[in-house]
Amino acid sequence: MLGIVGSGVKGLSGESGDCSLGVLKMLAGIVVLTVGFGAGPSLVVADHLWSILKGTIRSGNTRLCTSGTALLLIKVSENMKHVHIAELNRNGGAVFGGRHFETPWSVFDYWALEPRDVRKVLGDGAMCEQGFVYMGGAVEVTAGPFRERSESGSGFIIGPVGRECALENITDRVVGAFHVCVELDEAQMQEAGRDPIVNVGAFDRAALKWRDAIHGGSGQIATRHVLKPEDFRSSWTFLDHAILSAGGSVGYHYHDALEESFVVTAGEGLMTIDNETFEVGQGSVTWQGIGQGHGIYNPGPEELEFVRIAVAQRDEQYTTIDLHDDLSSRGLT
Ligand SMILES: [Fe+2]
Repeated sequence: MLGIVGSGVKGLSGESGDCSLGVLKMLAGIVVLTVGFGAGPSLVVADHLWSILKGTIRSGNTRLCTSGTALLLIKVSENMKHVHIAELNRNGGAVFGGRHFETPWSVFDYWALEPRDVRKVLGDGAMCEQGFVYMGGAVEVTAGPFRERSESGSGFIIGPVGRECALENITDRVVGAFHVCVELDEAQMQEAGRDPIVNVGAFDRAALKWRDAIHGGSGQIATRHVLKPEDFRSSWTFLDHAILSAGGSVGYHYHDALEESFVVTAGEGLMTIDNETFEVGQGSVTWQGIGQGHGIYNPGPEELEFVRIAVAQRDEQYTTIDLHDDLSSRGLT
């Protein structure tokens, strides 16, 4: 079991208010008509409407996911590449609603836990490896006979498989927590039952090692595979922590048989996915699916810190293909 060391990520709670239902209903109606025409072109239009709606939500300081009307927008969000936690349902909900996973990754939810909030997930026997990545506070996890309390900061708790798990915010401020589930097959489940494990730890900046950029990027990067394939019971492959220097980048690349997400915990940068470049900052969450080119550039002046969650297809060897672009000359698209 790993130790717990806090690293002090703050200010990750999103604001929320009343939904502008009139606007939501009007736009949702347009979207339903649009997606009803079929795939290709309609999704392009739908993406545009989604952008408009997201802008409306931001400007109106509204909450999206508590509205039944907003469920109609799930179809539109399938192609989303990024989201900010301030836009998400604080009471638990999919980070990328409507996402079709291509790996055994089955749940990617977000909670903004109020002080002393307790969330229980999954029952005994569920064929799923679950984990939490929390930010901006301290939590206590209870899972069967296991009970662990973190220090304040950001970190993770993974496992145990097949046990009901309760996560409690033990601080007097809001703690952001991502809930991840990765499904297991029968053989993996039997193995997990023989040797139950729980990994608890922190995203500790002091544990990172600086080196030259990776995947053809620029500048310097400090990285650590906080958890590797052997630390998981499922095909959950990596939980990484990284800091990009000012002017540093993770070069443009893609993976076969691997899905991943970046969660930005500090700083600001430019993320490129599928040749679309957009701004990211503290609280941004990105999604890069199998075969999607992706990379992240930090124009500076501050360091850019992020966490990577990666899940591979079961029984497949994932690959990484560099595309020889450090992204430093890309502008917003
Ligand atoms: Fe990647």
